[in-house]
Amino acid sequence: MATIRPRRSSWWCVMVMAMAMVVVASGASGPRGPLRMGFYAQSCPGVERMVGDFVRQHVRRVPTVAAALLRLHFHDCFVRGCDASVLLNSTAAGVAEKDAPPNLTLRGFDFVDRVKALVEEACPGVVSCADVLALAARDAVAAIVRKLVPGGPSWRVATGRRDGTVSSMMEALNEIPKPTMSFRELVDLFASKGLGVRDLVWLSGAHTIGIAHCSSFADRLYGYPGAGAGNDTTDPSLDATYAANLRRRKCRAPSGGYAEDAVVEMDPGSHLTFDVGYYRAVLKHRALFRSDAALLADAAARADVEGVVGGPDEVFFQVFARSMARMSTVEVKIGAEGEIRRNCAVVNGG
Ligand code: HEM
Ligand SMILES: *[C@@H]1O[C@H](CO)[C@@H](O)[C@H](O)[C@H]1NC(C)=O
Ligand SMILES: *[C@@H]1O[C@H](CO)[C@@H](O)[C@H](O)[C@H]1NC(C)=O
Ligand SMILES: *[C@@H]1O[C@H](CO)[C@@H](O)[C@H](O)[C@H]1NC(C)=O
Repeated sequence: MATIRPRRSSWWCVMVMAMAMVVVASGASGPRGPLRMGFYAQSCPGVERMVGDFVRQHVRRVPTVAAALLRLHFHDCFVRGCDASVLLNSTAAGVAEKDAPPNLTLRGFDFVDRVKALVEEACPGVVSCADVLALAARDAVAAIVRKLVPGGPSWRVATGRRDGTVSSMMEALNEIPKPTMSFRELVDLFASKGLGVRDLVWLSGAHTIGIAHCSSFADRLYGYPGAGAGNDTTDPSLDATYAANLRRRKCRAPSGGYAEDAVVEMDPGSHLTFDVGYYRAVLKHRALFRSDAALLADAAARADVEGVVGGPDEVFFQVFARSMARMSTVEVKIGAEGEIRRNCAVVNGG
């Protein structure tokens, strides 16, 4: 017995040391655990300020960055959860979300890469790309608004998201809502992400900032439904005067016909202002997408839209912020899942 015990304990010793080495090795990618406020307080103190300062500085100079970041965060969360899969480049192994149609229209990848590079310099291998994007989107909206009020439009971003290693064009095609979708289809898609009807109504308010390419709503202008370019039949749910203006001016190619890559402000006249202007446009049948107009197809959703238009921007800010906080935690990877990507465009070792 006396001879076995030491042998056993030395076997345990080796095992414990080996396990400790594994823990230390993987610990190189920072602390692990569930999402929580200030997840990086010890491992990368100041990261939230660093992201915030950089975003504020740039949004002030180039306000259109805000819409780009907000939409990137949305697309990220709707495919495989908020895991920065939207930021991955295509590889020989497969076409990434980035390159899924409408691939021409997501913007801001370079910007996120620059924020991440800054963060990597301070705390290598600690802060996930998914967290950088979630923080940057929040800070960008807060930076573009004229005046922050208690509750919005800013929201608490718990951190600790881990980055995914897979990005698939096909999944983006299936999971990202299409501008042609009906109310029912949108509700079902949002429900599949754990988001409710009201989240759909309030998150659609993101379209108060940003731009859309004519190709994203051309179906409503030419030959509706589906008669092809050149046909003058427009979607009857689109204000006729506005439709004519889009068709004859905004989306018209210099050579005549229609310019796919022409861009239109989604909330005309205030596309750089975060306000209830989008909902006003929806009620006037001047929102660009069928998916925007669809909010009027449901009595309760319509009542919400009418209610928010009747109130001060503050009410919209608060409900938007609450829904954003929910969206930013959709199917997040935590603990030992995924990795902390060094470069947001490629998986580690890829
Ligand atoms: C409800 C379903 C939604 C549909 C069908 C939809 C569709 C679209 C489309 C087609 C565009 C125009 C892209 C282009 O042509 O350049 C767009 C732009 C945009 N979307 Fe959505 N979207 C939806 C929800 C959301 C949500 C939930 C957010 C964020 C919380 C969001 C944020 C944006 C922003 C900020 C832009 C402007 C992007 C820019 O300026 O580059 N959208 N959306
Ligand atoms: C990802 O793709 C973009 C655009 O094609 C390219 O500019 C960038 O260098 C790529 N990043 C990496 C890390 O390969
Ligand atoms: C967009 O995606 C389509 C289909 O994958 C591809 O053929 C096209 O080259 C892409 N366009 C750009 C600008 O990346
Ligand atoms: C335009 O589309 C409408 C509705 O689909 C159709 O009735 C009409 O014949 C089309 N006109 C032309 C010139 O193609």
